[in-house]
Amino acid sequence: MSDQHHNLPFLNKVVWITGASSGIGEALAYRLSQLGASLILSARNEDDLNQVNKQLPREPGSAKVLPLDLEDLQQLPDKTDLAWSCFNKIDCFISNAGLAVRDYALNTELRIDQKLMNINYFGPTVITKRLLPHFIEQGHGHIVVMSSLSGKYGVPRLAAYAASKHALHGFFESLRSETVDQGILITMIIPGMIKTAITAHAVTGTGSIVGRIDKTFETAYPVEKAAQKIISAILKEKEEAIVGGMEVITLWLNRISPWLLRRVIRNHPIKWMRQLKERFLFGKK
Ligand SMILES: NC(=O)c1ccc[n+]([C@@H]2O[C@H](COP(=O)([O-])OP(=O)(O)OC[C@H]3O[C@@H](n4cnc5c(N)ncnc54)[C@H](OP(=O)(O)O)[C@@H]3O)[C@@H](O)[C@H]2O)c1
Repeated sequence: MSDQHHNLPFLNKVVWITGASSGIGEALAYRLSQLGASLILSARNEDDLNQVNKQLPREPGSAKVLPLDLEDLQQLPDKTDLAWSCFNKIDCFISNAGLAVRDYALNTELRIDQKLMNINYFGPTVITKRLLPHFIEQGHGHIVVMSSLSGKYGVPRLAAYAASKHALHGFFESLRSETVDQGILITMIIPGMIKTAITAHAVTGTGSIVGRIDKTFETAYPVEKAAQKIISAILKEKEEAIVGGMEVITLWLNRISPWLLRRVIRNHPIKWMRQLKERFLFGKK
C-alpha cells in the first residue's frame, strides 16, 4: 500500500452522509474529510450543513451540501439522483440520520410511530433502492447503516425507536444476502450511548421536542472516538460493528441470557448502566 493510500484511505472516494449536521454524522464528516474523502452532506437544516462544510479540513469544493427531509419519502428518489450527480459517483452511503422518541408506547400517537419509521427506516430504504442500480453498475458500493442497541433488544420508553432500528436489521441483513455477489458491502453499526444531543433532539409521544440532554449522555462515549471506530469498521469492511462504552456488554448479556437482560431492562436500564459505570470506573458504591 502506498504512503498516500495509507494516510488518505478515502482519497478519490465519495461518501454521502445523512445527518451530517450534528453529532455522529458531523464527527464522521470531519474525520472522513481528513482522510481524503469527497463528501455529500445531508440533513434538513441547510445552515447547519453549510457550517459543517466550512469547517471541513479539505479544500472548498471537496464537499457538497444537499438538504433533504427523510420524512418526505416522495422526494427521496430525486434527492438520490441529485446526490449521485454531485460527483457522478458515490462509493459509500452512510445512512446515519435518525430521530429518537422518548415516551411510553401507550402514550405515543400513531403519527409519531409513523414519523419514526419514515425517518429511521423507510427513508434509508427508499434511498438505498435508488442507489443500488448505480452501485451494481459501477461494481461496488458500501452501505453503512446506523442502528442502535435498541435495534437488538427493546427498551422501555423507546418502543417506536426500537421498532424502527429492528426493522433496519431485517431489511439490510436480507439485502446483504441478495447483493453480496454484486460487490455491495453492508456494514451495520450498533452504537451504545454516544455523547451527542440525540436525547435533546428526541420527540415525546405527542411530538414535542424533549429539548434537554439526558444526564447519562453527558458522560457518554466521546463522539470523535465513535467516528474513528465507525471509520475503522468501514475500512475493514465489517458486517457489524459495536461502538460505545460499558453499556455494550448488554449485547453480550443478550446473547448469553436474554432472560436476564429482559429483567435488567425492566428495572430502569439507563440508571442501572450509569450505576454500573460509576462502580467500575470510579469505584463508587
Ligand atoms: N448518540 C447515541 O447515543 C446513539 C446511539 C445509538 C444510535 N444512534 C444513532 O446514530 C445516528 C445519529 O445520531 P446522533 O446521536 O448523531 O443524533 P443527532 O445529533 O440528533 O443527529 C441527528 C442527525 O439526523 C438529522 N435528521 C433528523 N431528522 C431528519 C430528517 N427528517 N431528515 C433528514 N435528516 C434528519 C439531523 O439534522 P436536521 O435536524 O438538520 O435534519 C442530525 O444531523 C441516529 O441514527 C441515531 O439513532 C445514536
